[in-house]
Amino acid sequence: MSTNSAPPPGTGDIFPEEAVSWLALETTARRIFSLYGYGEIRTPVFEYTEVFQRGLGNDTEVVQKEMYTFEDRGGRSLTLRPEGTAGVMRALSGTDAMNGVENRVYYIGPMFRGERPAAGRRRQFHQIGVENVGRVAPALDAESIAMLCHFLNEIGASGFQLLLNTRGVPEDRKPAEEALREYFAPRIGSLCEDCRNRLERNIWRILDCKQPECQAHIAGAPDAASLFAAPSREYFDKVCSILTDQNIDFTVEPRLVRGLDYYVHTVFELTHPGLGGQNAIAGGGRYELNLPGLNRPVCGVGFAAGMERLLMVLDAMNIPKETVPGPTLYLVSLGAKALVRNRKLADALRRRGIAVALEAEEKSMKSQMRSADRLKAKNVFIVGDAELESGSAVLQSMSDGSRQTIPIDSLEKVIST
Ligand code: HAM
Repeated sequence: MSTNSAPPPGTGDIFPEEAVSWLALETTARRIFSLYGYGEIRTPVFEYTEVFQRGLGNDTEVVQKEMYTFEDRGGRSLTLRPEGTAGVMRALSGTDAMNGVENRVYYIGPMFRGERPAAGRRRQFHQIGVENVGRVAPALDAESIAMLCHFLNEIGASGFQLLLNTRGVPEDRKPAEEALREYFAPRIGSLCEDCRNRLERNIWRILDCKQPECQAHIAGAPDAASLFAAPSREYFDKVCSILTDQNIDFTVEPRLVRGLDYYVHTVFELTHPGLGGQNAIAGGGRYELNLPGLNRPVCGVGFAAGMERLLMVLDAMNIPKETVPGPTLYLVSLGAKALVRNRKLADALRRRGIAVALEAEEKSMKSQMRSADRLKAKNVFIVGDAELESGSAVLQSMSDGSRQTIPIDSLEKVIST
């Protein structure tokens, strides 16, 4: 067995002092999303591999290079979910979301991508995601973006930028694809190997390439969205005008295509300058997602925010961190009898919802006071043989040192007022 306490690269442990900040994010997300009628969905962390191959698109970087895939005992290929949308759609595909009934769900949990670890880039990371499934309307795309901004405001994040673009729908993309092909074909020799294949297979993926040799060419590519057929352009105009009405600032970024192939119409990303290289805190858009065994796609709009990155943003903004609250009371026991009495007292108080700490074994007064201090207890209650005899003991506030002698039996009343 390894004695190294470090977890595998790209993963991390979350200790109680940090877990409180995670919990605060989750609590805010649940509160805000429920204002918009969303309910929580929990799906497995692994799915049949085809769910992601079909769902995200075989040509995407995630499917080609980043999935953690393994075989179950029966030889069926399974994959740890690299994102939440495909699994959630798999779950909803058996419901009325397939018949145009709107479903609003959110999820919180770990995702897995075999990426090169870096600051803000993990192999196991956590997303808070939202999907509005079953209906197509520009107002729903805009509402999803507005809810994301609302959530970010509520956690105290500011200074982020909203980048927006449209992918149109496949039947409206033809003229844009032709223009892109015309532009990239003469440059094929100076594109990376992946992009050379993408020219014929999936030209849009070139726009998402991060290789330096491709970047310069991508910067000069035609603004594809402006070449979409009218219905797709009109849909996007409507989304933009609703966002403007709602006073939501955005920048149209014509190169934004997003890394997954299921997107149609609106795509968006929220970036923050405090994050450096991995600057996307959230991303999303409208999608038509194909699944194995379904003869038509599931449609929806949604987003996912990276929890590690949200916490990094709050850190960069020096927003005070949540702290683990200390117990209301630390029971100091001087002697075996006092310990027995205090155990009973602790049990009764905890059952009334009061947080109590005490030692498991007999310890010196000094050592118990040190523990009370380390745990950030708000008060100590000191019980020894004399106190058991008299029925009263000293309650001391750890913040101002003030002391009062109270009957042991009335401790609960005093402490809860
Ligand atoms: P995504 O852009 O791939 O979209 O991921 C969303 C967010 O997850 C990113 O903006 C980032 O904050 C975080 N993230 C992604 N990869 C990593 C990583 N390796 N380490 C740390 N954080 C990461 C999706 O996953 C889509 N399912 C979003 C969506 C929902 N679209 C429609 N509905």
